[in-house]
Amino acid sequence: MSKILGIGNAVLDIILTVDHHPQEDEELRAQNKDVETGGNINNTLYVLNQLGHQTEICTTVAADNESKQLIAGLNQRNISTEHTQKFIKGRTPTSFVTLNAQNGHRTIVHYRDLPELSFDFFAKIEIEEYDWLHFEGRNTTQLPGMINIAKTFLTHQPISLEVEKSRDGIEALFSSVNLLIFSHHYAKAKGFNNGQELLESLTLDNVNMVCTWGTKGVWYKAINQNIEHIEAEQVSPVIDTLGAGDTFNAALIHSLIGQKSLKDSVIFASKLAAKKCLQPGLDNIIAEQETKKPLANIKQLSNAKTLVTTSENGDSLVLIKYEDSVRCYINNCPHQDVPLNEAYKIDVNPFEKTMKCSVHDAFFNIEDGLCIDGPCWDESLKSVAIKIDDNGDIYTI
Ligand code: FRU
Repeated sequence: MSKILGIGNAVLDIILTVDHHPQEDEELRAQNKDVETGGNINNTLYVLNQLGHQTEICTTVAADNESKQLIAGLNQRNISTEHTQKFIKGRTPTSFVTLNAQNGHRTIVHYRDLPELSFDFFAKIEIEEYDWLHFEGRNTTQLPGMINIAKTFLTHQPISLEVEKSRDGIEALFSSVNLLIFSHHYAKAKGFNNGQELLESLTLDNVNMVCTWGTKGVWYKAINQNIEHIEAEQVSPVIDTLGAGDTFNAALIHSLIGQKSLKDSVIFASKLAAKKCLQPGLDNIIAEQETKKPLANIKQLSNAKTLVTTSENGDSLVLIKYEDSVRCYINNCPHQDVPLNEAYKIDVNPFEKTMKCSVHDAFFNIEDGLCIDGPCWDESLKSVAIKIDDNGDIYTI
């Protein structure tokens, strides 16, 4: 277990789950409302905590009512709040998130008027006590001083910097840290089309660099090595992408603390970030499910035929390939609550990308389980979250 200090913003996330992203002037009812503590550093520390580390945050907090909720949330996540700089002026940073239930995508409106952490506050912390310092790349008036004293006083403890957005002067910090984690937002803002181009443009000798690019995978460059790339993990259905990047950062740091290579660490981080997308929120993200038996192997599936199998809890499931990924549904037609293969096998039309209930000819989209023709038009098959491991074995989540 390592002791990790994260320096950045802690915010309140107000998350509304909606069945589509609202248009201007639209009125919409949310399916769910969650109030969580968020912010990249907070989320990363929470996952690091679940990975077995002792985690502390260095951040600013307001004096309003929401700040009590924020502190309680941090403590609930086992993140020490000893190093919080309090401000009377300004309100708790809040992010209003709409989470689209159809695809797990999140849209965020930020409210920020609280001052950022000051160099003087940070300078009083005994940073030598920590095994790793992880900075959020913001607050570029104060950050250079903080990173400078960290670099000066720390002997062996790594310093990592998350570069999510393009901010004035942030490039000057790149050579002072040990690990740079770039997001595609930063790379795109700088005019690069992929992580390869971004990493090629940087001539830094002693820094490990990683650039994440959502479904396009991850580029990385270990010290004195060439740039490499790994594909993104494929997961379905995507439930919630909020905090997936923060999960990636935590898993990367954890694996590097465990002396794994940058390559192995990037692979581990991609897997955990993908797993995060399959669940709401960040709770219990490390819960093991590896003892489960696979439902099937991807090699047994095709785009033209379903495979009906039974889950460990006794549910009958329909598995089918959709393009290069896999869809899994409860084998139950919403029309009369009967298995789709009750009367005969489930016919598949690979051109229309539909499958048909054998009882009353209801046609369902393979992609999303929606009935597009037949007696239960506009109703849907119930989708089951699955995960496919490196061997192609398919598991329920
Ligand atoms: C997720 C997140 C949210 C927060 C926002 C801040 O990565 O940290 O928790 O609202 O991003 O940018």
